[in-house]
Amino acid sequence: MIRALILGYGFLGKALAKRLLNRPVEELKIVGLANSKGYLYKRDGLQLEKIKEPLEDNEGFEKGRATELLTKEYIDLLIELTPTNISTGEPGITHIRTALKEEIDVVTANKGPVLLALKELKRIADEKNVIFKYEGTVGGGIPIFSLVNKCLQGDDIISIRGILNGTTNYILTRMHFEGLTFELALREAIMLGIAERNPTLDVEGIDTAVKILILANSIMNLNKNLSDVKIVGVTKVTPEAISAAKDNGMTIKLIGSIEDGELSVEPRLIRLNHPLCVHGTLNAINIKSNVLKTLTLIGEGAGESTVASLLNDIYDVIKERHSKIKF
Ligand SMILES: NC(=O)c1ccc[n+]([C@@H]2O[C@H](COP(=O)([O-])OP(=O)(O)OC[C@H]3O[C@@H](n4cnc5c(N)ncnc54)[C@H](OP(=O)(O)O)[C@@H]3O)[C@@H](O)[C@H]2O)c1
Repeated sequence: MIRALILGYGFLGKALAKRLLNRPVEELKIVGLANSKGYLYKRDGLQLEKIKEPLEDNEGFEKGRATELLTKEYIDLLIELTPTNISTGEPGITHIRTALKEEIDVVTANKGPVLLALKELKRIADEKNVIFKYEGTVGGGIPIFSLVNKCLQGDDIISIRGILNGTTNYILTRMHFEGLTFELALREAIMLGIAERNPTLDVEGIDTAVKILILANSIMNLNKNLSDVKIVGVTKVTPEAISAAKDNGMTIKLIGSIEDGELSVEPRLIRLNHPLCVHGTLNAINIKSNVLKTLTLIGEGAGESTVASLLNDIYDVIKERHSKIKF
């Protein structure tokens, strides 16, 4: 039995717990749930159907840091879902580093640690012979890392391009189909809860750049950082520019790309019938490789779909630890 701690019980932590409650995973027991105020821990496994919200209202809630649970004595798997911080990577880096050093497997959707400490965390995982997986960090539910690792073995990835930010794609879609200005489309996205109240990281292209970097360093084994990415956001895209593109069977999309070792994020013209040209909050990733040639994946880039990526990583951990389990 794998004993897991969900560290970060916000949107994704709760969505994962709900899924595990409705469809339990054999051989997985959630022994801990933690937020920024403290944690709940039960050696025999928490009864997820009895968990009240907020977490602090549950009997047995311990105030303080859940880091004290990050030892092999208590858990086998850390599911790290604290907020992404792209400047420091914390608290995620400390959580993941501590767990890996304690020979605890780790699954995360937190971009910060993968952006800033991938090499170090992979090295510790290798040294300790433990598993470190992060499918949910890019493209939400789109299984990009699993696809490349499991289905493209022996091939060489030449380039990756993608629409990797649902907020900006929603804004550009509304500008294209309704003729809205950037400001109006952004206001609408904030009202609908699609954009955050402070959307700077999205509209300035930083969030897309972070995901492009994770893909570049992870899949293409590059060693790049944010200063290596040419980044132009969508704030200066005008209705006139989109209208001119439309007249020519095209539109403008925020495209992140890795081509010839160069990383960029910028609004680009794209044909409306191109496979990458998805609308609304959808994400799309196109891979070019030597053998397969070209492949495009389309899917939800965030939200509850991300739970699919978490589950897939969790199943990989369980299968590797208990190779005899039948699924
Ligand atoms: N939401 C998505 O669709 C999505 C998709 C892909 C990737 N991600 C990534 O997945 C991670 C989780 O996302 P989310 O949307 O679930 O975030 P969220 O709703 O903001 O939840 C974050 C959780 O982490 C807890 N937390 C914050 N600091 C902590 C600390 N020092 N120690 C322990 N817990 C701490 C928060 O505690 P409190 O409840 O006490 O505030 C909260 O429970 C983020 O890194 C995000 O970028 C999210």
